[in-house]
Amino acid sequence: MNMKVQSAPGLAVVSPLHLEDEDFLVIARLVREDFGLNLPLSKKDMVISRLGRRVRDLGLPDFASYVQRLSGRGKAEELRFLRSNLTTNVTRFFREDHHFTLMRDIAFPGFIAQARAGGRIRLWSAGCSAGQEPYSLALTLLDLAPDAPDLDILILATDIDPVILNTAARGSYPQSEMLAIPPPMRAHLDACDPPSPTEFTMNRAARALVRFAELNLVADWPMQGPMDVIFCRNVVIYFDADIQSTLWCRFSQSLDIGGYLVIGHSERLIGPANACFERIGNNVYRKVADLAAAEMTAL
Ligand SMILES: C[S@@+](CC[C@H](N)C(=O)[O-])C[C@H]1O[C@@H](n2cnc3c(N)ncnc32)[C@H](O)[C@@H]1O
Repeated sequence: MNMKVQSAPGLAVVSPLHLEDEDFLVIARLVREDFGLNLPLSKKDMVISRLGRRVRDLGLPDFASYVQRLSGRGKAEELRFLRSNLTTNVTRFFREDHHFTLMRDIAFPGFIAQARAGGRIRLWSAGCSAGQEPYSLALTLLDLAPDAPDLDILILATDIDPVILNTAARGSYPQSEMLAIPPPMRAHLDACDPPSPTEFTMNRAARALVRFAELNLVADWPMQGPMDVIFCRNVVIYFDADIQSTLWCRFSQSLDIGGYLVIGHSERLIGPANACFERIGNNVYRKVADLAAAEMTAL
């Protein structure tokens, strides 16, 4: 029930909507099926605070009516809302900077040499949020190879959240975020146009290396061709173990032998994909073998 409580003369405070456990479980099942999010009952208050306003904005009296909407004509629109509002977009430039150091020192020199010899190199930032991760990859590449935009090198940057992808595609960030970018790489940053005292932007070369696209990791992937590097960091931590294990297998199948999988500091490679990789750094793996045929048919 949506109750208004008088807190002081002239001031009405809206009390939180009540969410029955059974309605919470319907929402939890739907988001798990649609985009993999694992929502234990302990997250009920978080769901109330993130969705309560939506329920009111839709003019609905309570969460029970919202759950009805989720199984009716409003389902597609609500799923888009849930994908944006129940996911966590925290990110920053050069997060876990040792991953970029390892790319610069071990992985990228060989890939750049291949590209200069006419080869095709593909990197994938899966769950790229507002773009700081793929742009950190782009800046690392440009630091080693200013000619990278003229080569067949691309960083595919995907996320399920269309709202955060708009921010990513703008490529402009608050000045305070520049501190995380190593000074020599700031040569690839530009002033905004029109000028902004509070923001900087990525230059043309960095933008040329990155392509953003909406993609749900737990649905089909339209991309063709093998990847050389996959960064999927701080994304699967919100999924349960079955979905994580399946995703690691799918990533292993998307990588060329010798390709790299980089995962977040609190994530673990679990399941059959373990047999495909050797560990070469903190949460950095190199593919050494394909999945066994039996595991592939199970995907
Ligand atoms: C915490 S951010 C991580 C950003 C970046 N990888 C990093 O480590 O800084 C997690 C991102 O994963 C995205 N995400 C969550 N579920 C997803 C799914 N099923 N498919 C694609 N992206 C998803 C979220 O929208 C969010 O932007």
